[in-house]
Amino acid sequence: MATQEAKWTKLADLSEVPVGEAKAVQIGVGRSIALFNVDSKLYATDNQCPHMGYPLTRGRIRHGILTCDWHERSFDLEGGGCFNVECDDLQTFPAEVRDGEIWVQLGDLTYRRKAEHLSLLWEGLLSGDRWTMSKAIALLLKGGVPEVEIVELILRHLGRHIASSHGSEAGWDVARLMNGLSVGRRYKDADRLIAMTTAACAASGGAAERLEVVPLPDPVAWENIEPWVHSFSRDGHSGRIERCLFTAYTLGDADKILPLLFECTVEPHFLGFPDNLISLSYLSEAVDEFGWEKAFELVFNLSAKLIGRRRGDPQRFRRDAIGIMREKLRELDTSDIATTNYDEDAFVSALTSVDIQKSFNGVADALQCGVQIDRLISTLVLLAADRMARTPVNVDAGWECLTTELNLAASLRTVQRIAGDAAAAKGIFHAAWLIFDDRWLNIPSRTLTPPPVEAAFNASNEEEGIQQITNAIETLNVPSVGGQVLAYLNAGYSGDTLLYALGKAILWNDTATEILPTLRTVFDEWNNCAEHPARNQLLVALARYATDIRTNKDGQSATTTAIRFAEGRTTVEIFED
Ligand code: FES
Repeated sequence: MATQEAKWTKLADLSEVPVGEAKAVQIGVGRSIALFNVDSKLYATDNQCPHMGYPLTRGRIRHGILTCDWHERSFDLEGGGCFNVECDDLQTFPAEVRDGEIWVQLGDLTYRRKAEHLSLLWEGLLSGDRWTMSKAIALLLKGGVPEVEIVELILRHLGRHIASSHGSEAGWDVARLMNGLSVGRRYKDADRLIAMTTAACAASGGAAERLEVVPLPDPVAWENIEPWVHSFSRDGHSGRIERCLFTAYTLGDADKILPLLFECTVEPHFLGFPDNLISLSYLSEAVDEFGWEKAFELVFNLSAKLIGRRRGDPQRFRRDAIGIMREKLRELDTSDIATTNYDEDAFVSALTSVDIQKSFNGVADALQCGVQIDRLISTLVLLAADRMARTPVNVDAGWECLTTELNLAASLRTVQRIAGDAAAAKGIFHAAWLIFDDRWLNIPSRTLTPPPVEAAFNASNEEEGIQQITNAIETLNVPSVGGQVLAYLNAGYSGDTLLYALGKAILWNDTATEILPTLRTVFDEWNNCAEHPARNQLLVALARYATDIRTNKDGQSATTTAIRFAEGRTTVEIFED
């Protein structure tokens, strides 16, 4: 009894809460308890409305029902049950009067609402409401729930959402989810939460039940499935592919599935479908990170939609390109790889020649000269970054095309890791086609050398330099931000620190959802291309892109309010801070 007694706390004198009145009492940092005196009976509840945190001491009470003054959610004053379906229950505490003092049994206040908050997150994912998702994630993290459990729920929702409501375009949802998680891990606290919430928002949307996919009956083996998937992919039968993949999984052939998917998607007939490679690389990442058991529904459904999509008749240039790629693949003799020097300038010149024959000849020459595939990938990444760093912004800068070039090039590293050099080599033809296809962009060809630094560096130290660059981003100063980045780097200041600051500025803008895949690519490629003289163009490219598409609206209010909500603060305290 003594320990039980010790959990009772005196919160006020009875004289401070007259009949019909309410009083808020602060307990520790953030949290406050509401005391109500109703007809001389004392009640104690959390003062924070579970909906959006309005102080409940400002609410009204009738017939034992406490109604919040903001959006009218109402609660059983004694037990805390909420009468509105879309709101959590309210935490209540036993209260009694002892010798003119109000004592409340607060208990140990240990977090025990994980299940409730996971279903709140589920509700937010279904409705797409950013506040509900931000609040649920902030409460779960504050309660010590491991991030992986939160993300698994988001992934499960995304699998069902995409399966029931989306076509192959859903690859973008996966891109934003995986990149939001990847970028978020580089940050802490509020910055991390906003990255996670942005990722969750990308995954949100209605999800319906669908018939379960069942494996094909015996006798079926991998030797059947592999050619069937190739054939269904060629002919555009996504539903059949999904069933084959599911069958392979149940046969224990999960490790052969991703290489097969990549092999299908680098085929010449998929020239002009860059999102296949990009999305498959993010799906592979989901498998790496969460395992097949958590990711299979999403991977099988979306990848079948991607590689089983109908392509229609190719227009003339694409039809020619498919023919040339087939011819080049036939001619490519991997048993007789030359060991000549890699001529990067010749490769870049061919890629930007606006002549698909020259471009594919350049790819074949580069492959035949014996250079490592990952070096060719670095060239493609930096060529895309260099084009982003130089694209004129006065009319249409072509950001969608250019960021696709960059993200496709970076995705080839995953292709190489999972499906090997031969598949990655085919992927390089796809990257070359994309550059040719973007020939309408008015970007002069040049070699991948460090660009001249035209702007003077006017800051007296690194911090001031970063401040100037982020100010240029915030004021949408596209013409000068690239030069400022180059001047900063040329002065010898840290690119890592600048990239971290750029990422933070991007995360807090409401265009973050759009920029996330490119931001993540720049983070990765900044390390992958560390030895290349044109590496700085990655940061110039990112700064120009983020500045030009920025809307100057921040996306912070839901996140900052959610963090303070998770600390137990009421909205009045939040706004008074
Ligand atoms: S009903 Fe209380 S904050 Fe919305």
